[in-house]
Amino acid sequence: SSGKMPSKYFTYKDIPFPENFYSPEVLSFVEEEFQVQEDDVFNVTFPKSGTFWMVEILSLIRSMGDTSWVRSFPTWERAPWIEITPKEKDLPTWAQPRLLSSHLPIQLFPKSFFQSRAKVIYTTRDPRDVCTSLFHFSKIMTFFKQAESSEDFIEEFLSGAVPYGSWFDHVKGWLGLREQSNFLLVTYEELKKDIRGSIERIANFLGVHLSSAALEQVVDNCSFQKMKENPMSNFSQMSSQYVAKDRGTFFRKGVTGDWKNLFTVAQSERFGQIYQEKMKGFPVHLPWED
Ligand code: A3P
Repeated sequence: SSGKMPSKYFTYKDIPFPENFYSPEVLSFVEEEFQVQEDDVFNVTFPKSGTFWMVEILSLIRSMGDTSWVRSFPTWERAPWIEITPKEKDLPTWAQPRLLSSHLPIQLFPKSFFQSRAKVIYTTRDPRDVCTSLFHFSKIMTFFKQAESSEDFIEEFLSGAVPYGSWFDHVKGWLGLREQSNFLLVTYEELKKDIRGSIERIANFLGVHLSSAALEQVVDNCSFQKMKENPMSNFSQMSSQYVAKDRGTFFRKGVTGDWKNLFTVAQSERFGQIYQEKMKGFPVHLPWED
């Protein structure tokens, strides 16, 4: 644990953010002034739900399966982060229409979005796997507070004391848009089960027709192995200011159900109980496998 700077969180409208990476000024700019364009496509997730997998899928759909874009530009330039990029004009302009990423809860999303027809693809994942992935991720990212133990981390996750706040609020907030035609819900689990069908569904939502050859190219190039090997997708280009590369990798396991290797029986029961309470009466059935 040497060499890691202690990180502090500030809250912006009750949501925790690491202060080494975010600022209230930028968050306020994004919420109040960011100009969403009618043809913007947003990749929205709670962290560790499959964000960069979706960036890869969207990039490859955009290029009709051609791999030159995903091999030439890092993932965070292909679908820039709205809450990190200070001014809209600083966003790389070569992707038109724009592909943008965000982990923001819906109440902090740009106000101009709600008057637009911009599209949102929201990817969600079994929260126990999100929590597990985030626990391991927190150890390699320098801007995360270090939990004393996995027990403490699970409690922080359940109470929303992690960056971007409560998973439950995030999911319930965004799924409020589920009846709108500019909103698409995708789950990590369905990407794992049926990547081809999922890509077709996403392309269809975007109004893109992929030939069967292009579809095969997208399927092939968004695999865990291909992404892990692509220096523009595997975060090897990310500054060591942010990531302790000796502690692990962004491409950890890429499977479902890894929470079983982290949670004790008591922790999994407690997680399940809180899940039941928080999601009580929520009409959408989300992936939850035992
Ligand atoms: P694990 O830590 O469980 O392995 P995000 O992109 O939102 O940060 O999510 C990261 C998680 O997605 C990590 O999960 C990572 O391994 C997984 N992931 C990334 N690309 C993937 C792919 N092509 N297929 C399956 N899982 C992938």
